[in-house]
Amino acid sequence: MADTDDLKDTHDYHLEIPQTAEPFPLKGCDNLDWGMKNRLSNIFSPATGRTVMLAVDHGYFMGPTTGLERIDVTIRPLLKYADTLMCTRGVLRALTPATFTRGISLRASGGPSILKELSDERIAVDIEDALRLNVSAMAVQVFIGGEHETQSIHNLTRLVDQGLRYGLPVLGVTAVGKELTRDAKYMRLATRICAELGATFVKTYFVSKGFETVTAACPVPIVIAGGKKLPEADALTMAYQAIDQGAAGVDMGRNIFQSDAPAAMIQAVGKVVHERFTPREAYDFYLALKNQA
Ligand code: R5P
Repeated sequence: MADTDDLKDTHDYHLEIPQTAEPFPLKGCDNLDWGMKNRLSNIFSPATGRTVMLAVDHGYFMGPTTGLERIDVTIRPLLKYADTLMCTRGVLRALTPATFTRGISLRASGGPSILKELSDERIAVDIEDALRLNVSAMAVQVFIGGEHETQSIHNLTRLVDQGLRYGLPVLGVTAVGKELTRDAKYMRLATRICAELGATFVKTYFVSKGFETVTAACPVPIVIAGGKKLPEADALTMAYQAIDQGAAGVDMGRNIFQSDAPAAMIQAVGKVVHERFTPREAYDFYLALKNQA
């Protein structure tokens, strides 16, 4: 028999409004649903609100890019240092251990190869499969000013609608075509359009002049792509400046996996992003790890 004490009215109930969670640490994301925030927390460290994403999705239009010929050999040892892996579903199923429990940003657009007009992409993943793969975000390329600008925007908005239905964030990736200038004015335009049309967060390139205006004008978090391989000290400086000017992280590929010491490089990038190491400190850290190895 139940103890009648369990049933009696107590006066222990607190009548004030229950404590809400702490403010969500990502810009523009406070009004999102719980599931969306939970998935974003797989990508962005809740401790710092920032992320080191390891981008290895280049093969979806470039084939076996230098450094990604054998993802199982070269990338697997780096996984433990990444907050999130950005890849295609092919690489996820074929080469990524299912024991990887951090964020996955799934490449969800594609179509043309490097031999064709790149802006002519379509949605390349059904959301049902993205959910089956338990990913944390779907990434879609947007070609502002490109030949197939409208189609690429349509890809973004379709994925945003589907993502909102199931609580799956969408990363809008601003692509820079050969003919487009990579300056702050263009980046402001491209990132703002992605955010206005519903991207949960946006990837763009760092520009040395006026990058803070790009992050300021974009109402959702921005992560930077690394771009072509630079000397390690320069790539660490770029990451530092981007964070300093308002980026919420990096989505870096070639500057990590084409480095002389990829494991040392990704850890040094992590020090910049999460611990605010200066470029000098991070480069010394990189050299020390590289020499140890
Ligand atoms: C490019 O095709 C992909 O979106 C990459 O994820 C992106 O460019 C980041 O890689 P990287 O740092 O090599 O530019």
